[in-house]
Amino acid sequence: MNQPLMAGIPAVNAPAHVKHQKLINWVAEIAALTKPARIYWCDGSQEEYDRLCAEMVAAGTMKKLNPEKRPNSYLACSDPSDVARVEDRTFICSQNKEDAGPTNNWTDPAEMRQTLNGLFDGCMAGRTLYVVPFSMGPLGSPIAHIGVELSDSPYVAVNMRIMTRMGKAVYDVLGTDGEFVPCVHTVGAPLAAGQKDVAWPCNATKYIVHYPETREIWSYGSGYGGNALLGKKCFALRIASTMGRAQGWLAEHMLILGVESPEGKKHYVAAAFPSACGKTNFAMLIPPKAFGGWKVTTIGDDIAWIKPGADGRLYAINPEAGYFGVAPGTNEKSNYNCMASVSANTIFTNVALTDDGDVWWEGMTKEAPAHLIDWQGKDWTPEIGKETGRKAAHPNARFTVAATQNPVIDPAWDDPAGVPISAFIFGGRRSTTVPLVTEARNWVEGVYMAATMGSETTAAAVGQQGVVRRDPFAMLPFAGYNMSEYFQHWLDIGKKIAASPAELPKIYCVNWFRTDADGKFVWPGFGDNMRVLKWMLDRIEDPQGVKSGGVEHLFGITPRFEDLQWEGLDFSADQFATITSIDKAAWLKELELHAELFDKLKHKLPAELQGVKDKLEKKLAA
Ligand code: GTP
Ligand code: SPV
Ligand code: MN
Repeated sequence: MNQPLMAGIPAVNAPAHVKHQKLINWVAEIAALTKPARIYWCDGSQEEYDRLCAEMVAAGTMKKLNPEKRPNSYLACSDPSDVARVEDRTFICSQNKEDAGPTNNWTDPAEMRQTLNGLFDGCMAGRTLYVVPFSMGPLGSPIAHIGVELSDSPYVAVNMRIMTRMGKAVYDVLGTDGEFVPCVHTVGAPLAAGQKDVAWPCNATKYIVHYPETREIWSYGSGYGGNALLGKKCFALRIASTMGRAQGWLAEHMLILGVESPEGKKHYVAAAFPSACGKTNFAMLIPPKAFGGWKVTTIGDDIAWIKPGADGRLYAINPEAGYFGVAPGTNEKSNYNCMASVSANTIFTNVALTDDGDVWWEGMTKEAPAHLIDWQGKDWTPEIGKETGRKAAHPNARFTVAATQNPVIDPAWDDPAGVPISAFIFGGRRSTTVPLVTEARNWVEGVYMAATMGSETTAAAVGQQGVVRRDPFAMLPFAGYNMSEYFQHWLDIGKKIAASPAELPKIYCVNWFRTDADGKFVWPGFGDNMRVLKWMLDRIEDPQGVKSGGVEHLFGITPRFEDLQWEGLDFSADQFATITSIDKAAWLKELELHAELFDKLKHKLPAELQGVKDKLEKKLAA
């Protein structure tokens, strides 16, 4: 096994602690296909991380930041064409097209395998194949799952060390025959002998491919974020959602936070907002001063795996171990905890470099520094920015940082048992129409609200920005199977809880993003979202609304002005009305969009959801 397989292919050289023959054989097989110059088995140590980073600094892939300003931190700038997820190049290759459903790109798996075998043949020439073993969820936890990513990108290897439990200990869990999800990744840029590498190799051709039945992931041509860190969206959402469907649990694009009242009463809530719509910020929220004694703590900021417990309640874990968060807009005021998290030991991608070797992005400070090197390596000044409209940081610039650096990490964030969920929150980015907060009257109507949610597209995915699209459950780009069946799975989970002694979690729909006539956000957002969160908790404790308040409207229950705590914020009843009003004409149009979605999803669409829609339409017409 330690002999070269064939001429030009390196020895697999599995370390002695790897006792899983199937894994070793698979590495050999992928090496034979991709023909790397070397194979390197990651152990996940600090020494290895430092070494790989130093190698990338030497190669020009990363810059080491000024250790006095930003200790042990790096800046990587990508190829300008490789800056976000590529949804139109993402495929769910199930045996039957119908199982991928109308919202996913599908190609016959046999055909896709043929295409990829061609593309992957020799794709790692001149490069190192990194073997990256990782656990999604606490190592050895009954709800965790193991993956192994084979990648020719050292940037992927170091980011995976932050984002997952990566390293040697995974092999102990795997043993001789444990299950793992095989993930193959290449930047798709083979090096000819003697050819000099570029700082950020990638390929104009991209494929992000999932085979749900065999639980495999193949990614070609991109080195960025969700395209390349395959534990995240590819495994923890697309593949895991299909596992959850088969096994009775949920894999969701949700943050999980803990919120504790001054009296010491604690609840956990999970919230799904589409990409770049506020999960990281909500998960680290600092309550306003007037909310003395209230505490918010973070379990996770992007992904939740949620399983019914023996008591009938839903328990959630964060399968990740780090945050790959949006930099622009983050500052000491909007998200102090995030700024504290990234003060050291952080990898920044596509932000700007200051003259003293630190980082900057739009929204970090009121005034931009007089001079920067922008994310594309060009000189940038506020004047240049004004003249050309060029941003110093890419709008989807990100930081990668370990969850343990978060000052408000929840003590239970690593608990293999997970935390019980009291409420689900769904929210989109909508400048009009959708009110600040609505409580669903029941589970089915909550599932309807989540299923029909719309949101304006953001820089987190390549494509036009700011256009409203339906993004059911914030899972449009991440559901690994038929969306109608996904809705049914949520309804089934509700029925299961209803049949148990446990209470169903409440479901809320929020919108922080309504704007005024000048296009400015009316709601202050960020820490002030606590005011909305508190009303939800009041409702959970007092569902009849005796003290918590709330009135019925068209599609749920909404707080009156006097039901929110306003101390410390100058916000008028008129302003409140502009972000909570229900415009009938706008909702008639909105329901047409619901109808369009349901028409697209009509095959296998749960009749109960159609029923909610019919009721809504009648009410609106009355
Ligand atoms: P992904 O990592 O892409 O899944 O994004 P996310 O949902 O974690 O979004 P994040 O919290 O990083 O926020 C994205 C952008 O929205 C940032 O620029 C934030 O500053 C901004 N944002 C977050 N919360 C609020 C809010 O309450 N109000 C307003 N106006 N902007 C917000
Ligand atoms: C998102 O787009 O929702 C992200 C960033 O969290 S990525 O990892 O690129 O998917
Ligand atoms: Mn996300």
